[in-house]
Amino acid sequence: MTLRKIAQVGHPILRENARHLTKEELASSEVQSLIDDLIETMRDAQGAGLAAIQIYEPVSICTIEVGDNPRYPYKPKVPLTVLVNPVLEELGNERFENFEGCLSVPNLRGVVSRAMRIRVRAWDRHGNDIDEEVLGITAGTYQHEVDHLLGKLFLDSVVDSKTLCTWSVFQRFHEADFAARVRAIVKRVGS
Ligand code: NI
Repeated sequence: MTLRKIAQVGHPILRENARHLTKEELASSEVQSLIDDLIETMRDAQGAGLAAIQIYEPVSICTIEVGDNPRYPYKPKVPLTVLVNPVLEELGNERFENFEGCLSVPNLRGVVSRAMRIRVRAWDRHGNDIDEEVLGITAGTYQHEVDHLLGKLFLDSVVDSKTLCTWSVFQRFHEADFAARVRAIVKRVGS
């Protein structure tokens, strides 16, 4: 496994549309190694997720995992998930405001409006079908990662540029309030 460099905001690859993979491509040793590198790079950088496009591979794969994460101490846990060719569908009209950060956007966070309930259809790394509903904060993480595969960054969807702040300012002025709202969402919808 190799730790990869993470593309930073302004690099044109972050604005590309990720190409969907065939099952034959997915089964190849090249793509399977890419998935291993993506997981390793995400864990090393303490990300909650990482999209292949962020490591300069514009194919439709992203990984999500939340354990005890010092970058996001309030986030509910998510087991390691690999999504290949994911397609999201919003369910219902309910939205929530998510304070997001991104490994491609150093030291900046901002508030983005996300759907509270989504349906995700994708393959896992072995080509098995995934079709599930995802709720709450975890649904926000899924939407952030799948946006990367569509060439979008959270900066494009901040509800108000006045919500942008550095990580230390977030901790000082916003984290307690946001963590309380996260706990309320997790209590209500379970994730
Ligand atoms: Ni990101």
